[in-house]
Amino acid sequence: MLAVAVLAAGKGTRMKSALPKVLQPLAGATLVERVLAATAGLAPDHTLLIVGHQAERVEQTLAAHASRPRFVLQQPQNGTGHAVQQLLEPLADFDGDLLVLNGDVPLLRKGTLAALLEQHRGSGRAVTLLSAHLDDPSGYGRVFCDGDGRVQQIVEHRDCTPEQRQNTLINAGIYCFHWPRLRQVLPLLRSDNDQGELYLTDTVELLADAGHLVVDDLAEIMGINDRQQLAACEGLLQERLRRHWMAQGVTFVNPASCTLSEHTSFGRDVVVEPQTHFRGVCRIGDDCRLGPGSVISDSQLGNDVQVVLSLLNGARLADGCRVGPYAHLRPEADLGEAVRIGNFVEVKKSRIGADTKINHLSYVGDADFGRNVNVGAGTVTANYDGVNKHRTVIGDDSKTGANSVLVAPITLGRGVTVGAGSALTKDVPDGALALGRARQTVIENWTGPRKG
Ligand code: UD1
Ligand code: CA
Repeated sequence: MLAVAVLAAGKGTRMKSALPKVLQPLAGATLVERVLAATAGLAPDHTLLIVGHQAERVEQTLAAHASRPRFVLQQPQNGTGHAVQQLLEPLADFDGDLLVLNGDVPLLRKGTLAALLEQHRGSGRAVTLLSAHLDDPSGYGRVFCDGDGRVQQIVEHRDCTPEQRQNTLINAGIYCFHWPRLRQVLPLLRSDNDQGELYLTDTVELLADAGHLVVDDLAEIMGINDRQQLAACEGLLQERLRRHWMAQGVTFVNPASCTLSEHTSFGRDVVVEPQTHFRGVCRIGDDCRLGPGSVISDSQLGNDVQVVLSLLNGARLADGCRVGPYAHLRPEADLGEAVRIGNFVEVKKSRIGADTKINHLSYVGDADFGRNVNVGAGTVTANYDGVNKHRTVIGDDSKTGANSVLVAPITLGRGVTVGAGSALTKDVPDGALALGRARQTVIENWTGPRKG
């Protein structure tokens, strides 16, 4: 039997943020989501999340999480030992192992947790914890062992003597306890330390039967307490993601200048040019060329798509589309095959048929354009009457002249031609020419007013 408890009640004072620390994002996933993800393969019988500071916000964020955590309130937040004391009641009938994870150690791997569990169960110890040798151990609790590798004591950095601080073996904040024995000693914790809190780490001495597993990959056990550590961790994650996708056949012209999100996937032979960023959930097909200077969020791109110096958010692009420079595709922009979106064009909530070109200076919102439409420079759909949004429909093979305004709701048929500078307010049938502008007047030999 296995129970998993994640400590996520702390405020994260050193982060200096309105957001609870465990909700800080890293490459598109929060710290606590990453911790939970590391436990996914263990199939625990219970997953408990200890919440306290801004508990509602943390619960909301994780309400639909795949691990279906049970939330346990810790109020007030009187230290990591006090946090685990809150499990005495919910785990009253449980007699298996309890894996405790700090909610701010986000890079932990599944395999490491499995190894911790295996060592713990093989040894029969009361507790086994993850430790590591750090060149700069400052901030972490120090692990003190006897000659046989048994852990005798953990002392927090702030409670260490200068001599104790020389010890570079640190506590990662990840433990596997035999719950029936931990339950016995939890009520004995005392707050006689620098912070006046109940420390989970003090149970090690009380249990007098602790082992440890030294982790080699130091990135894995990085605790995030401040923005510097957050940035360092983001850097590591980005590095991992880029390496992963390079191994899958993606070229990054200048890897360090690009960022990825956890939920972005790429096909083969994609070239990512410098300063290009992927956010949220993105799916990119084969043979795309993306960037330089682009941000692609929550979008799906087919094969052979090219995007230059542009912003895509919530868009879908079929094969062969060309976008940019300086285009803005907003949510529900849905481009058919080989659509061309040129400079200073904004498209929102619109279906654009295959081979259609919107090459220059346009706003297209709430529209449904057919195939092979040529949208002239400066064409604008006037979709908003101040209260409601209305749709603009254009049939296949139509052309709009430069600077046309299509006042929605309006439907233009197939093969329609709109004269330049028109402001159209009425529907146009198939094959017609529509003009909606003042006629040109020419006055010959005109002499204007003269001075004197
Ligand atoms: C803790 C360990 C330290 C270890 C380090 C590893 C203790 C006393 N110290 O220190 O030995 O080296 O982690 O990263 O455990 N939390 C609660 N309730 C509380 C206090 C904290 O749920 O009352 C949660 C926090 O939200 C956080 C986690 O526990 O996710 C760790 O708390 P934090 O204050 O960051 O502990 P550290 O000082 O880093
Ligand atoms: Ca911490």
